[in-house]
Amino acid sequence: MTHTSSTQAIPETASVPRHIAIIMDGNGRWATKRFLPRVAGHAKGVEAVRGIVEACALRGVEYLTLFAFSSENWRRPADEVSVLMRLFVTALEREVAKMHANSICLKVVGDLTKFDAPLREMIANAQRKTAQNSRLTVTICANYGGRWDIMQAIEKMVAAHPGSTAFTEEQLAPYLSMAYAPEPDLFIRTGGEERISNFLLWQLAYSELYFTDIYWPDFDGAALDAAIASYRQRERRFGRTSEQLVETKKAS
Ligand code: IPE
Ligand code: IPE
Ligand code: MG
Repeated sequence: MTHTSSTQAIPETASVPRHIAIIMDGNGRWATKRFLPRVAGHAKGVEAVRGIVEACALRGVEYLTLFAFSSENWRRPADEVSVLMRLFVTALEREVAKMHANSICLKVVGDLTKFDAPLREMIANAQRKTAQNSRLTVTICANYGGRWDIMQAIEKMVAAHPGSTAFTEEQLAPYLSMAYAPEPDLFIRTGGEERISNFLLWQLAYSELYFTDIYWPDFDGAALDAAIASYRQRERRFGRTSEQLVETKKAS
C-alpha cells in the first residue's frame, strides 16, 4: 500500500493523529533527579512504553513510532549500551505475546546488522508473529538514523534502476524503512530538548512538532492527551494559505 506524500499531494487529516512518532527522551535525567543510576530511568522508560502503546490503541491511533536507540547512541558508555540491549531483549520476551493478543503489529526498523544474531532472530520472530495484526502498528526505531534511512533507500533505488541517473521522490519512497506507514501527523519529543536528533528526517517534512519538558518515564495517557489537544489546535496548511483552507472546508 502506498501512502500520500505530503510534498506531492495533500494528505487527509483527522482529529486523532493517524501516526504519532515519539523521541522518548529524559530517562537518564529522570533517574538522576531521584539519585538513581541512569539505567533505572531506562527500566522505568520501558513501563512508559507499555502505557503509551495501550493509550494509543484506545484512542484509535493507527501507527505509533518510538525512537528507542539512535545510530549515535553507540557513543554512550559501553555498560549503558549493554543495559539498553538487555532491556530491549527482555521487553521483546515479555511484551510480544501481549501485543499479539491485543492485535498489535510490531515492527523494528534501523540498521539491525549491528545487533547480535539471537536479538535479530527475536526481532524477526516478533515481526512474523504479529504481521497480520491491524489494530495499531508499533514501530521501534533501533540503531536508527534518519540519514542512514535515506542513504539505504537511495542505494536500493539505484540498484533497482540500473543505468538511471534521474530519480523522483515517488521512486525513492518505497525503499524508506517506514514505507508501510503514512508520514507522522504528530511528532512528540519528551525531556525538554527541542531537536530532531537524526530521527525520521524525510518523513517529518510536514509533521506537527510538539515538545514537552516531561521526562519519558513520566509520560502517561494524560500527557499524550495534552499533545493531541495541541495537535488539534494546529492548522495544517501543507503550503497553502489559511483562506484556501476555509474555502476547502466550505466546499466539503
Ligand atoms: C532516552 O533517554 C533514551 C535513550 C536515548 C536510549 P536518555 O538516556 O537520553 O535520557 P537523558 O536525555 O540523558 O535524560
Ligand atoms: C534521541 O535521544 C535518541 C533516542 C531517544 C533514542 P538522545 O538523548 O540520544 O539525543 P541527544 O543526544 O540529546 O540529541
Ligand atoms: Mg537524551
